[in-house]
Amino acid sequence: MWNKVQETVQFLKDKGIVNIDYGIILGTGLGNFTDNVNIIQTIPYSDIPHFPTSTVSGHHGELVYGKVGDKIVLAMRGRFHYYEGWTIQQTIFPVRVMKFLGIDNLIVSNASGGVNAQFKVGDIMVITDHINMIPEHPLHGANDERFGPRFVDMHEAYNKKMIAHLDSIAQKQNIKTQKGVYLALQGPTFETPAEYGMVRRLGADAVGMSTVPEVIVAKHMSMNCMGISVITDLGLEGIVEEVSHEDVKKAAKLAETAMGVLVSEFIKTY
Ligand code: HPA
Repeated sequence: MWNKVQETVQFLKDKGIVNIDYGIILGTGLGNFTDNVNIIQTIPYSDIPHFPTSTVSGHHGELVYGKVGDKIVLAMRGRFHYYEGWTIQQTIFPVRVMKFLGIDNLIVSNASGGVNAQFKVGDIMVITDHINMIPEHPLHGANDERFGPRFVDMHEAYNKKMIAHLDSIAQKQNIKTQKGVYLALQGPTFETPAEYGMVRRLGADAVGMSTVPEVIVAKHMSMNCMGISVITDLGLEGIVEEVSHEDVKKAAKLAETAMGVLVSEFIKTY
């Protein structure tokens, strides 16, 4: 892993991908966030050594390097999910690369199913904590101390200062946000009514299939993380409705403009 990361980092540095303030991972339907980016360079994953290639519709496969205000960002348009068949190590590879490109702040977005009765489809949930139920742990196996310690503190996986600043932006922009715990399952099936019920009883507000491995690895390398989830469907006691990937993409679209404003204003002012 170490050598591969260094090779990929060198490849990107040679292309001028340097001095980055924020790494961003764009989830389902949020790929258009890059409309808020003054793009300097786009690099398809297929050109990048050791990068997997995204296989899910709604997920492009490219790195976008550019400016938001006077900050420099590197955004992943399209991420790698465990359910696609990648090993958990492959899914988190880009986060390792981001760290060694000098990135200390990571913003992650996703789509999720809401299990909190206060939530509505299209709501934006700021992730305050997570529960990891993806069966393979990204730090399983021998630890490479060059990345981080064997045992990783997770008491503040989602940076409180970043959340407070995002709150102030939301208030200023008159954008309503929810807060909650995100639980990650392997997927690719959406949950059965009984499973949505389980997710709720375990203490979560939303369920999805991504983000948690990336945040674990980011914390392993002492990065600051902020996570934002768009609630694209609801799995509430007694009213679990049919959901498809098309529904998820459509609902994510509803929140896209607000998400774009939130994240870009955050980046400009944090
Ligand atoms: N469950 C899991 N993942 C999801 C969902 C869901 O209901 N909605 C969007 N991603």
